[in-house]
Amino acid sequence: AGVIASAAFAQTYPTRSITMVVPFAAGGPTDTVARLVAESMSKDLGQQIIVENVGGAGGTLGAGRVANADADGYTVLLHHIGMATSATLYRKLPYDTLNAFEYVGLVTDVPMTVVARKDLDVKDFKGLVEYAKANSDKVTVANAGIGAASHLCGMLFMSAIETPLVTVPYKGTGPAMTDLLGGQVDIMCDQTTNTTKQIQGGTIKAYAVTSPERLAIFKDIPTVAEEGMPAMQVGIWHGIYTPKGTPAEANERLSKALQVALKDPNIASRFAELGTLPSPETDGTPAALKAKLESEIARWEPVIKAAGQYAD
Ligand code: MLT
Repeated sequence: AGVIASAAFAQTYPTRSITMVVPFAAGGPTDTVARLVAESMSKDLGQQIIVENVGGAGGTLGAGRVANADADGYTVLLHHIGMATSATLYRKLPYDTLNAFEYVGLVTDVPMTVVARKDLDVKDFKGLVEYAKANSDKVTVANAGIGAASHLCGMLFMSAIETPLVTVPYKGTGPAMTDLLGGQVDIMCDQTTNTTKQIQGGTIKAYAVTSPERLAIFKDIPTVAEEGMPAMQVGIWHGIYTPKGTPAEANERLSKALQVALKDPNIASRFAELGTLPSPETDGTPAALKAKLESEIARWEPVIKAAGQYAD
């Protein structure tokens, strides 16, 4: 009966719209990646993917929502490197990182930019380091909560300059960007999917990128390695997950739709415009995502333990 049921399921799935939970506020980088791939995946699946933003606690609330959702193939999570770092950062999570999810596939890898409000009187990265050290009791660093990519990068920065600064958490770097544009917060380390337009528009300042090489869209912005801080090099990879127990036929069908989306020229050109270049490993397969999550938990655990003293 099981075989017949799963064959019937595979024949018909999906029969209704799918919810894609984004664990950060709307308008931020994760939301941008989600809406891009969801639009293309919907076409391949023949069903609407509806993005639902569930912010809070650096992405762990949204991840917990999906971990505890029905494992029927109609709720998926799109999350990033925070799935790995939160495993070390949180003593207690609303889910068991390596046992609460099934894997659909890796989506893309997004570089980060060290940016500041446009009237910060600092002209380059070295100047930013000096300014931060000299004003550590008042320089504010925006992030999207413990477990966010902006939190990780901010931590790497404060650890590299050996100076804790004043961190200001938001439900996502979408809302954080509003305050950066308004000058209510001083600096942020955020993904190019959220900062490219503002940097190109001159409404914020950019001092460095966290990619290994300079970005094609920002040839004049140095890498953190060029600025003597290779430890700040980080790429924000994204993955799609389903609750543990979701039928394999659903995960496979979703992974196929993701792989079609990643080959969609519109997605590829939009990602390139936003500074993200899917690396060869983001081939959209479940195995690649599983391997990435496990290796990234191991990679960041010692780094977070060493740098954790600088970021609350
Ligand atoms: C967002 O979508 O708001 C960001 O991914 C938050 C972060 O991780 O810094």
